[in-house]
Amino acid sequence: MWHGTTTTGATLYWAVLYILNYPDVAARARDQITDYLLQLEDRNSSAGAGDTSSPTAKIEIPAYFKAFIHEVQRCANICPLSMAHAVAKEKFLKGYRVPGDAVILPNLDSLMMDEDIWGDPEVFRPERFLNSDGKLSVPTEFIPFFIGIRNCPASSIAQNILLTNLIYILYHFDLEPEVQGQVPPMVRQKGLIPMPKDFKIKFIPRR
Ligand code: HEM
Repeated sequence: MWHGTTTTGATLYWAVLYILNYPDVAARARDQITDYLLQLEDRNSSAGAGDTSSPTAKIEIPAYFKAFIHEVQRCANICPLSMAHAVAKEKFLKGYRVPGDAVILPNLDSLMMDEDIWGDPEVFRPERFLNSDGKLSVPTEFIPFFIGIRNCPASSIAQNILLTNLIYILYHFDLEPEVQGQVPPMVRQKGLIPMPKDFKIKFIPRR
């Protein structure tokens, strides 16, 4: 339970900081979300008025908004060492000997911040998760939930928590620094789940 709330909470803290530090990205994500919610509302009200012409038409969550969340997860990398693993007995892997009982800490940055894969890994750029048709395209090296049979069993739950909370925040609130003009910096604290340095912001209702 601790793991689930801390990880999703930490990602949301970072997402809020990225919203404040990248207003153009946030504005584009919000525009898409607003369109998406209006389409849902239209469909629901036509269904309520007896129009059953396309009741099951799927309205997709917009790709750029999903890409924004992926980029927050890649850059924030809130489980940088995943979880400790161990081998039950001595193993050989690609010429390396792994002694029995060795504790292994994966380093997720080694893929999520690899220049050969991302080109400009230090830059916050959600577009990197969109293909030339504007559809979401996620490289296999995106591994915030790790890989293999022991990867995070709740990755879909976690992604849904991030989606619903960020849709709600972007649609209902304008975020502003506590002191006008002083956007909280993105300072990473040390820890197994690195949180940003404490900050205060204003949530201003939009409607
Ligand atoms: C953004 C949110 C989350 C991230 C980034 C995340 C990431 C991870 C990572 C990296 C691991 C370690 C995998 C490994 O090294 O093998 C893990 C394991 C695990 N996660 Fe998550 N997680 C998140 C949310 C959640 C939530 C919400 C739950 C529960 C509702 C959850 C339940 C678990 C459990 C039970 C394990 C241990 C699995 C095992 O030992 O086999 N996680 N998670």
